[in-house]
Amino acid sequence: MEGSVCLVTGAAGFIGSHLTDRLIREGAKVHAVIRPGSHVGRIARNADKIVIHRADLEDRDAVRTCIERVQPEIVFHLGAETRAGTQASPAAAHLSVKHLVEPLISLVEALEGLSVPPAVVVRAGSIAEYGDVPLPYLEGVREAPRNAYGAGLLAGTQYLEMLADKLAFPVITARLALTYGPGQSHNFLLPALVEACLAGRDFDIKRPEDRRDLIHVDDVVDALLLVAKQHDRACRLVNIGTGVAPTMRQVAETVVTLIGSDPQRLHFGPAQSPSTELRSDTSLAWQVFGWRASLSLEEGLARLLSVGDGDHLRAGHGSG
Ligand SMILES: NC(=O)c1ccc[n+]([C@@H]2O[C@H](COP(=O)([O-])OP(=O)(O)OC[C@H]3O[C@@H](n4cnc5c(N)ncnc54)[C@H](OP(=O)(O)O)[C@@H]3O)[C@@H](O)[C@H]2O)c1
Repeated sequence: MEGSVCLVTGAAGFIGSHLTDRLIREGAKVHAVIRPGSHVGRIARNADKIVIHRADLEDRDAVRTCIERVQPEIVFHLGAETRAGTQASPAAAHLSVKHLVEPLISLVEALEGLSVPPAVVVRAGSIAEYGDVPLPYLEGVREAPRNAYGAGLLAGTQYLEMLADKLAFPVITARLALTYGPGQSHNFLLPALVEACLAGRDFDIKRPEDRRDLIHVDDVVDALLLVAKQHDRACRLVNIGTGVAPTMRQVAETVVTLIGSDPQRLHFGPAQSPSTELRSDTSLAWQVFGWRASLSLEEGLARLLSVGDGDHLRAGHGSG
C-alpha cells in the first residue's frame, strides 16, 4: 500500500476507521469520504495524516466531484447506512435503495468516468445478504435476505455482477460476518455487554441460544487489504468470517470470565425455539487469497479488552 492513493468511504465509521489506521501505517495516501455533519471522533487522531472529503454518497454530483478530485488507485467502500432497514417492509425497502444501492452505483459510475481507472474496488457486503439459506453460507447459494438492509446490500452485489464485464476495474464484495472491536457502537450486543460487565451492571441476553459468526475487526482489516492487494477478476464475492458461530450464552460467559465480573449479573432469556444461526463458509477466502481469521473468539475478546485508555468504550454514534 506504500504510496498508493486509497479512497475510503465510511472512514469515520467503525470498520472504516480501523482500516484508515492500518492504511496510514502501511504508508498509503488516504482520502476519507465522510458525510457532511458526521461525527469524526473515531478518526480525529488521524486528522493530520489524511485528506477528508465531506460528501454525501447519496449525492451523485458530490460523489463525482470527489472521485475526480482524488483519482484513487484503490477504493474501499464501507460507507453505508447501517442504522436503517432492519425491517422487512416496502418503506424499509425504499430506504435501502436510497441508502445502499444508489450510493454504490454513483460511486461505480464516477470511477468509470475516470481516464485512469482504479486498480480495484473492495466493497463491504454483509452476512445479512444470505438470510434464510442452509448453513454454512456459501458464496454460490441463491440468497434469501430477511430484511431491507440485507436485500439492499444484495441488490448492490447483483448490480455489480451485471456490470462486472463492462467496468474498467474489478469490484470485489467482501461479505463480512458480524464484526466487533474497539470503537463499535454500544447499540450492538457485544459492546453493550462489555460495558455492562466492566461497570458491574446486570445484563440480559434475551436469546442465549442464537449463534453468530463474530470476527474481530483486525481480522477484517487484514482481509480487506489482502483482497485489495491480490485481487482476482474471477473472484467478485468472498465471505470474510471465522466460520464458527458460538451461542450468545457462550459469548457472554467468555466476556464475564475474561473481565472477572460477577456471573450472577448475567440474565438469560428462555431457550427459544427455533434459535437462529448466522455462519459463513470461509474456504473460498483461503483458496483465493490465502486468508483466514487469525483470532479465536477468546483471543479477539481478550484483544478488545486489552485496548488501553478505555478505547473499548470509545464508540462513535453510528451503529456499526
Ligand atoms: N459492523 C458489522 O458487524 C458489519 C457486518 C457486516 C457488514 N458490515 C458492513 O461494513 C460496512 C461498514 O460498517 P460499520 O460497522 O463500520 O458501520 P458504521 O460504523 O455505521 O459506518 C458506516 C459509515 O458510513 C457512513 N455513511 C453512511 N451513509 C453515508 C452517506 N450517504 N454518505 C457518506 N457516508 C455515509 C456513516 O456515516 P454517519 O456516521 O454519518 O452515519 C458511517 O461513518 C458497511 O457497509 C456495513 O454494511 C458491517
